[in-house]
Amino acid sequence: METFIKESCESIRNEAAGRPVLCALSGGVDSAVCAVLTHQAVGDKLTCLFVDTGFMRKNEGDQITALFRDTYDIDLIRVDAEDRFLAKLKGVTDPERKRKIIGEEFIRVFEEEAKKLGTIGCLVQGTIYPDIIESGEDGHKQVKSHHNVGGMPLDIEFESVIEPIKMLYKEDVRRCAVALGLPEAFAYRQPFPGPGLAVRCLGALTKPRLDLLREADAIFREEIEKAGLHKEIQQYFAVLIGVQSVGVRNDERCYEEAIALRAIATRDFVTADSVRLPYELIETAARRITSEVKGVNRVVLDVTPKPPATVEWE
Ligand code: XMP
Repeated sequence: METFIKESCESIRNEAAGRPVLCALSGGVDSAVCAVLTHQAVGDKLTCLFVDTGFMRKNEGDQITALFRDTYDIDLIRVDAEDRFLAKLKGVTDPERKRKIIGEEFIRVFEEEAKKLGTIGCLVQGTIYPDIIESGEDGHKQVKSHHNVGGMPLDIEFESVIEPIKMLYKEDVRRCAVALGLPEAFAYRQPFPGPGLAVRCLGALTKPRLDLLREADAIFREEIEKAGLHKEIQQYFAVLIGVQSVGVRNDERCYEEAIALRAIATRDFVTADSVRLPYELIETAARRITSEVKGVNRVVLDVTPKPPATVEWE
């Protein structure tokens, strides 16, 4: 890892060639590692841009801002673009269209912000190896257009795009994070897709539906953490599956949304198995979600491996 870090810094420095560098910070370990590597390589030539798409998990935006601004003293610009993304996605339900729109809008926001900063030659992105495989680049067949590779529009206005960790699998990225001194909670943070909760919110993307999903997801994650399983399970999250069903609340009929819980075990994220969670944990999460999250009356468990399912529902 030390050799990798040393060589990466050298290559980032060479690619940047003294030009200012902009780094896309998403909140995940991938872009965090890229940011810290780039900061080591080019110092205050680096500006990080965190676009709050409105598809982040509960409190995530504030945590990211605090870590990079306060702990690392990295120049971080936070853009609140929730309204803009929701407007572009109004009425869009097709998963691939959602991904393409988000990817494109993401780059547009970047370009606009970069212009505000003056001449910025290079953009750093946290693409990792599985993103490249599954976007059909590198001679592989396309599964989904990942937002930081296949979904990127070609008329991008940066002179060069630097992808320091594009040959790494997730576990290597985490090792790199630890070696770079990122807090453990951050280094072992579960992966989160670029388009965020948008690909876990099936059907129309509206603020109330996203807020509902955010709350349900936070409860499920809290229960996993309480059970001490957060380090063992690679990825666990809630999905708003876009199905409404009949229930009974306070002796009255209700017709509300259903939430699916998903926990997966994987080595490389190319294949995955469902995790056998303790039944009490599932029941507690289901009870809490249906009582604490307004508008949810049913919780189901997704036990499908990948393939034939993918990890994300969209
Ligand atoms: P799938 O759903 O393709 O997910 O089985 C495999 C892993 O990739 C994550 N994922 C993404 N990561 N941008 C990313 O950086 C994306 O657009 C994206 N889509 C899925 C997913 O969470 C899982 O860890």
